[in-house]
Amino acid sequence: MPKKIVVIGGTGLIGSRLVARLGQDGHEAVAASPSTGVNTLTGDGLADVLSRADVVVDVTNPPSFEADAVLDFFETSSRKLIAATAAGVGHHVALSVVGTQRLSDSGYFRGKSAQERLIREAPVPYSIVHATQFFEFIQSIADAATVGDVVRLAAVMIQPVAADDVAGVLGRTAVGAPLNGILEVAGPEQFRLDELIRINLAAGNDPREVITDMHATYFGAGLSERTLVPDDGAILGETRFEDWLSGTLAATG
Ligand SMILES: NC(=O)c1ccc[n+]([C@@H]2O[C@H](COP(=O)([O-])OP(=O)(O)OC[C@H]3O[C@@H](n4cnc5c(N)ncnc54)[C@H](OP(=O)(O)O)[C@@H]3O)[C@@H](O)[C@H]2O)c1
Repeated sequence: MPKKIVVIGGTGLIGSRLVARLGQDGHEAVAASPSTGVNTLTGDGLADVLSRADVVVDVTNPPSFEADAVLDFFETSSRKLIAATAAGVGHHVALSVVGTQRLSDSGYFRGKSAQERLIREAPVPYSIVHATQFFEFIQSIADAATVGDVVRLAAVMIQPVAADDVAGVLGRTAVGAPLNGILEVAGPEQFRLDELIRINLAAGNDPREVITDMHATYFGAGLSERTLVPDDGAILGETRFEDWLSGTLAATG
């Protein structure tokens, strides 16, 4: 049975993939974001786009990762979205990050926790998908940990996943029954964070040196061995990092 599924953040990395998949499966998938006239901070366009919607999926991300700005973004936009979904949407799906509750030293993750709490406490049935770091985000991890020509990272476990695989799991979650809980998704292999970044930088002929430092923080949060990896029972994507990397390098020349 085709559903109307509104994807807030539907023009982004995950959102655009999700909208395409849902459309291919015969659903009415609507991409909603400021560039399509829908803004969850101001409420502009929300009531119109959610009219007749069966499901709303929130895959937004703020324009700034500064701690206060992130918290304000996720609190304000979640409140506006929850108020608008109360008008009849039967399933609120949101994408968050594996380990969010273990990363509260980071302003970004305090914002994600606030988003999750508001969704859990709202009357609308929900599903929260926790994904590990996207392959597409690994370069940003390196950039955030760089000072000068040196990248400092802890040698903790990480289990990154392809954005396409995350979009697949989100799509299946969106058309399924609400979980009223959290589902974890990760990639098929675990790496050491410092080693993963070395592989990624070497593949792009990036001369930065990666220094292993167990005290190095991750977006402001301290890490221990398993902070970033899921529990047993996570859904695993099929795409291997090495295959994704060689495909990406071939595509970009
Ligand atoms: N990066 C990772 O490794 C990772 C891992 C697990 C989970 N996640 C989660 O995945 C989610 C999506 O990430 P992404 O990388 O796909 O994000 P992204 O590519 O940065 O896309 C963000 C989307 O949010 C939209 N947006 C921004 N401000 C908005 C507003 N005021 N109202 C409505 N839409 C707004 C943007 O619209 P415009 O294009 O119009 O600006 C864009 O469509 C995030 O919530 C993140 O926490 C990320």
